[in-house]
Amino acid sequence: MEVRLERINKRFGAVQILKDIDLVFPSRKFVTLLGPSGCGKTTLLRMIAGLEDITAGKIWFGERVVNELAPRDRNIAMVFQSYALYPQMTVRRNLGYGLRVRGTPVSEIDTAVERVARILEIDHLLERKPAQLSGGQRQRVALGRAMVRKPDIFLMDEPLSNLDAKLRVTMRGELRRFHLDLNATTIYVTHDQLEAMTMSDLIAVMHHGVVQQYGTPAEIYSKPANLFVAGFIGSPPMNFLEGEISNRRFLVGDGSLPLPALQVEANAQKAVLGVRPQDLSRAPAAGQDTITGTISLVELLGSEKLVEVQLQNRKRMSIQLRADAFVEMGALFHLRFDPQRLHLFDKESGNIIPASN
Ligand SMILES: Nc1ncnc2c1ncn2[C@@H]1O[C@H](COP(=O)(O)OP(=O)(O)OP(=O)(O)O)[C@@H](O)[C@H]1O
Ligand SMILES: [Mg+2]
Repeated sequence: MEVRLERINKRFGAVQILKDIDLVFPSRKFVTLLGPSGCGKTTLLRMIAGLEDITAGKIWFGERVVNELAPRDRNIAMVFQSYALYPQMTVRRNLGYGLRVRGTPVSEIDTAVERVARILEIDHLLERKPAQLSGGQRQRVALGRAMVRKPDIFLMDEPLSNLDAKLRVTMRGELRRFHLDLNATTIYVTHDQLEAMTMSDLIAVMHHGVVQQYGTPAEIYSKPANLFVAGFIGSPPMNFLEGEISNRRFLVGDGSLPLPALQVEANAQKAVLGVRPQDLSRAPAAGQDTITGTISLVELLGSEKLVEVQLQNRKRMSIQLRADAFVEMGALFHLRFDPQRLHLFDKESGNIIPASN
C-alpha cells in the first residue's frame, strides 16, 4: 500500500519539530528516514502509526486519509528499538500474541507462527522463554511478532541499535530478505547512513525537521543536494574546501583547480568544493591542476589506507589509497582532483551548484 505525507507539520507546544514534510512511500518499497539525533524521525514514524497527533497536513494510506484512524485500524506493524517481549511467555506465545488478542482460531495461529519462525530460522527456539535467547534471537522474535500479522505497512525504529556490530551487519541482510518475503511497504528509521545505504530502495535525509533530499542511495551518494547531505553521507566523510569560482577554475589559497562546466554563471562566486576521499588521487609531481600538502597522518583501514594531507592553509584533506601505497609521514603529497568527481556548493545557501551534464 502506498503511504503519502502531504505538508505534514508537528509542533510540541511552541516548538516546530517537523516542517512541511511531503513524501511518497511507494507500495512495497523499503524506504528509510535517515538523519541525526533529534531531527524528528521517531516523531514522524509515530504519526504514521497513529500514536502522535498531527498538527497540520494529511497522511494517506492508498486512497484514504488516515489522520483520524485509530492505530489498531491501520493494519500496520511496528518494531521499536526496545523490543519488549513478554518474559513469562514462550517464543511461540510471543509470536502468536497479536493474532490471539484478535480472536484468530488456534489452528490458524499455529500455521502463521510456524511459517514466520521458519523464515526467521527460530523454529527450534519456539518453546524457550526470552531470557534463554541471545540478543539477535530476541530481535528476530520481535520482528516475527510483527510479521505474523501480515501488515500492509511495516514500521521499524532503529531495530538494530541494541545489537553488536557483527550481528548488525548480518541482520541488515536478513531485514532486507524479510522485506521481500513480507510484501509490505516498509518505513525504516535510522541515524546510521551505512545501514540506510545498504538496505533501502529510497532514502529521505532529514535535518532539523525538514527533508533535505529524497532519492535512491546511489543518487544521494553521487548527487548530494546540499552541504548537509554531502557531509552526512559517505564514509570517511567528504572533504570540503572554501574558495572562489573564476573562469571555470576553483581558487583556493594553495592554487587553483579545473572545474566542470556549470549550469549557472558563477564567476567570482564564493563556493565550497566537496570531494570524497575515494575520489582524490596522487599526482607524481606538482602541476597546474594539483594542490600540494604534507602527509600528516596515515591510517591503515585493512584493504585501504587513509592518508591525511595538510595544506598550506592548515586545512586537512583525507585521501583513500590502496593499502600497499607507499606514503611517509611529513613527505610532500600532490593531490589530483578529477573535475568529474567534484561537488560545488553555494557558500551562502549550501545548495549544490549543478554541473551542466
Ligand atoms: N513529547 C514530546 N514533547 C516535546 N518535545 C518532544 C517530544 N517528543 C520529541 N520531542 C522533541 O522533538 C524532536 C525530535 O524528536 P525525535 O524523537 O522525533 O527525534 P529522532 O530523530 O527520532 O532522534 P533519535 O535519533 O535521537 O531517536 C527532539 O528535539 C525532541 O526533543
Ligand atoms: Mg528516534
